[in-house]
Parts: sequence; C-alpha cells; structure tokens
Amino acid sequence: MIGNLNHIAIAVPDLDAAIHQYQVVFGAFVTSPQDLPDHGVRVAMVNLPNTKIELITPLGDNSPLQKFLQKNPLGGVHHLCYEVSDILKARDQLIAAGLEVAGDYDPKIGYHKHPVLFFHPKDCLGVLIELEEIPALKMKERVGIERIGPIHTISKTTAGSFQGVEGIGIGIEVDFKRKTPTDNKESED
Ligand code: CO
Repeated sequence: MIGNLNHIAIAVPDLDAAIHQYQVVFGAFVTSPQDLPDHGVRVAMVNLPNTKIELITPLGDNSPLQKFLQKNPLGGVHHLCYEVSDILKARDQLIAAGLEVAGDYDPKIGYHKHPVLFFHPKDCLGVLIELEEIPALKMKERVGIERIGPIHTISKTTAGSFQGVEGIGIGIEVDFKRKTPTDNKESED
C-alpha cells in the first residue's frame, strides 16, 4: 500500500540553526522556511537526491511539537512520511487493521499541497507515521526499482565441487534501474 518514503521529519528548537547545519555544514539544498498554521509548525525542506528531510519547529503555543521538544530539547526524529495513492482508502485500511489516527481523522493539506494525515506511534513501532497522497501518475513516475529478484541458475559444476549445495549455484542478478527525479527542488506541482 505505501509507496516511496517522501520525507523524514526532524523537530528542532531553532530552525535557523538547523537550516545552517544542513545548508552550510552538510552542503545540501534547503528551501526557504514556510509557516503552516494549520499544523502549528514552521518548515524548511532539505531536498536530497532520493528523499527529503523536513526540518520543523513549533509555530504558536499550541503546536503539537512543544511537548516533543520538551522531551527532546536538542531536537529529534519526529515522523516518517510515506506516499500513498489514495489517502482515504489507506486510512480506512489501517484503521481496520487496528491502527489509531493521531490528530485529525480527516486529511489536512500539507506542505506540498497534498492531503496528509498521521498514525499514532503506539501502533507503528514507536514512530509517528504520516501518509501523503500523491497523484497516481506521479507515484508511477517515481517507482525506483524496475526489477529485483534472485535468479536461480543450475550450475554446470559437478555436485562434488560444492559443499552441501548439491550442484545448484545461486546467482543473484539485481537490476536496479533507478530513476532519480531530475528536479527534486520544489517541483511538487
Ligand atoms: Co511531514
């Protein structure tokens, strides 16, 4: 059901310092900060070739990040975001599997102007999970692995030359045909 990892979010107490770290120290492309009042966060995105890091800091006193930063004053990994093609279908499927929505039951519009919603860490191996709906065509374009699989070949070698493998040689042939997005910099829409 889930597709690509869209981003990993790191909650930080000081967004400017976090941007400096990623832009200057790590040498990555970081977008200008943006306020998301609906979510109570201020965001800057780090665009990496294969995924994004979402740097988030509380916006307003009722931000859901306040408590997290009280527990993690230096900051910390806050959530993972997976892409889905149909967020309502994905939500209902996960609820049916016993997972609890964290926050709003109805999707909100997120940073990329796509619907998002969250699932509680208690049901997701201790990690808050965000789902983001990505239009189906875009999901297809982003599929990274064309074919992957072990191919078993019969070895011509006699059984005696193997120790306990009975003449079967296993050749692993992996064809990673990766399509890196040509422009991962603010090209979401
Ligand atoms: Co996020």
